[in-house]
Amino acid sequence: MTVPSADSTTATARRAHITGWGRYAPSHVLTNADLERIVDTSDEWIRSRTGIRERRVAAANETTASMAAVASLRALAVAGLRPDDIDLILLGTLTPDYWMPSTAALVKEAIGNTRAAAMDVMAACSGFVYAFASAQAHITSGMARHVLVIGAETLTRFLDYTDRNTCILFGDGAGAVVLSASDQPGGGLGIELTTEPSGAYMIWLPAGGAKAPPGMETVARGEHFIRMEGRETYRFATRTLATTALAAIHQAGLEPSDIDLFIPHQANIRIIEAVAKGLDLPMERMFVNVDRYGNTSAASIPIALAEAVDGGRVKVGDNVVMVAFGAGFTSGAIALQWTADPSRGALAEAVGPDAVTIRPPVDWSSVDPIPPALAALMASPVALGKLNLEDVVPGEPAHASSTGDGRQEEVPA
Ligand code: ACO
Repeated sequence: MTVPSADSTTATARRAHITGWGRYAPSHVLTNADLERIVDTSDEWIRSRTGIRERRVAAANETTASMAAVASLRALAVAGLRPDDIDLILLGTLTPDYWMPSTAALVKEAIGNTRAAAMDVMAACSGFVYAFASAQAHITSGMARHVLVIGAETLTRFLDYTDRNTCILFGDGAGAVVLSASDQPGGGLGIELTTEPSGAYMIWLPAGGAKAPPGMETVARGEHFIRMEGRETYRFATRTLATTALAAIHQAGLEPSDIDLFIPHQANIRIIEAVAKGLDLPMERMFVNVDRYGNTSAASIPIALAEAVDGGRVKVGDNVVMVAFGAGFTSGAIALQWTADPSRGALAEAVGPDAVTIRPPVDWSSVDPIPPALAALMASPVALGKLNLEDVVPGEPAHASSTGDGRQEEVPA
């Protein structure tokens, strides 16, 4: 990226405002009833312990980059910007398409941007908030005018569908915002970011990196799947979310009672309730959509933010706090004052789910990316009853495009 030359907004006066927002969720819905067929769980247990009713699953031709690119084009449409207006693309994810290149680079090409710098931000579920904070720093320092900040995940491909502790929690999707420089009041006001490596192995993916390169043995041991100590993670989340949010709120010169809407990381309704309690606020101030998407990690906050704005929960002048926690352990919060016209969200509808193409590599024959157990669930209706994982042929190609029980997604999210 070429650093923009100084303009009428001086570096000290520059503020970062959200001018565009967009989201994308794949159409396939995986319900708790579906999961009852492959692990020893129940809809009642999942709902009461997590608040999750269903989650979305990326189709075989979808990836983190493709979903991110659709959400990004929607955010650009809302901002009224062309792809080349973007100076920098920051993408939070823990499920990149590849270790290299960055998924942000693939998104840059897919949206038709020719001039931005692009990189991924790895802070797990806090990835979007960390990327947002970096974008704000780029803008307020004068290094960028318009930054595309994305959170996107394809978590369903990194789950062990024999592990009921993890496979019920996560889903796929993407969200994006455009942050733009302005000398007008409002926009990003307070930031708090923390990392506690004492929790490094509480949520982790053991193999695939330099410490444990992927191989037959690592796969045989299931080390390519997400592992999690649920209770420890829960304790960390309930401890940290309120204090992190409070630090960002105070930095903005505000008190919790001044905040109109909290957009917490959507991991578990009980965690969100604990944040509300910790901040002594009613649940009406918390935005919740974990019931429909599960935990989409770095995508969770931008999807929730876009839904909140499009659903009429945010108006000009409102104080909004986004607060996340995740593997690392990381945590981050942004306090901002909303300044964009919420009705512009309708402009995102012009961008359909097929608006992007991710260029495939040459001489590359990709494997079917959907885990066999999940493919079987996607291909057959709930009414068929419990499936034996042993009955699923690895690499089986059939993937249903509907939910299997006849339901289709109402509107692409
Ligand atoms: N269905 C039925 N029973 C289950 C299931 C399931 N899906 N999962 C666990 N259980 C059982 C356990 O085996 C245990 O049984 P036991 O008492 O016989 O040993 C019992 O339910 C209670 O288990 P807990 O782990 O204590 O359940 P808890 O109430 O803590 O809920 C949960 C588990 C939902 C995972 C919770 O701990 C949690 O939400 N933790 C935070 C997870 C999280 O947010 N992770 C994302 C981090 S973000 C990132 O960066 C990826």
